[in-house]
Amino acid sequence: MNSKKEFDQVINERFSCRSFTSDRIKMEELNYILEAGRLAPTAKNKQSERIIVVENENLLEKLKEATPCTFDAKTVLIVCYDKNACWIRSTDGKYHGEIDATIVATHMMLAATSINLGSTFVCAFNYDILKNVLDLPENFIPVCMLPIGYPKEIKPHNTRLDLEDIVIYK
Ligand SMILES: Cc1cc2nc3c(=O)[nH]c(=O)nc-3n(C[C@H](O)[C@H](O)[C@H](O)COP(=O)(O)O)c2cc1C
Repeated sequence: MNSKKEFDQVINERFSCRSFTSDRIKMEELNYILEAGRLAPTAKNKQSERIIVVENENLLEKLKEATPCTFDAKTVLIVCYDKNACWIRSTDGKYHGEIDATIVATHMMLAATSINLGSTFVCAFNYDILKNVLDLPENFIPVCMLPIGYPKEIKPHNTRLDLEDIVIYK
């Protein structure tokens, strides 16, 4: 596994990678990424995330029925939450599984960058087709997909608004 980057390098160098080499990432790299997801905070520590790892060639092909955004990565993680496991806020009944899954996915995306792998946070998928292709139980709600691999080229991330455009001091 490649040496890990400093945190400021990770957040500066992460970009949405949409082009990968044909090599599958190593098992130790996958485990490093999954472990970073496991350590993410979740509402009430309910750990409602459920991560489907797809590396099987047939299934990778089938995923393309659900999304145009696998980018031919050889490893695709589908980050779900279990709606029977997540915290539900009592004051308004809000399910927090989607937030759990998003934080878990972000941890994993940054972990991937830290070991020089590329990934993209993907939400452009057909929910029903994806559930069907993966044969997900009714209580598993897919939130995002992370195609992961070795970047074909390193790019800068997209431009950002200035802090003054997004931060409001009161
Ligand atoms: C919630 C969310 C959904 C996204 N869905 C997709 C997607 O379906 N397909 C895709 O190519 N990129 C997707 N992206 C990546 C964004 O387009 C990307 O993060 C943004 O343009 C900034 O570019 P950067 O990540 O390179 O900085 C998504 C990102 C987020 C946070």
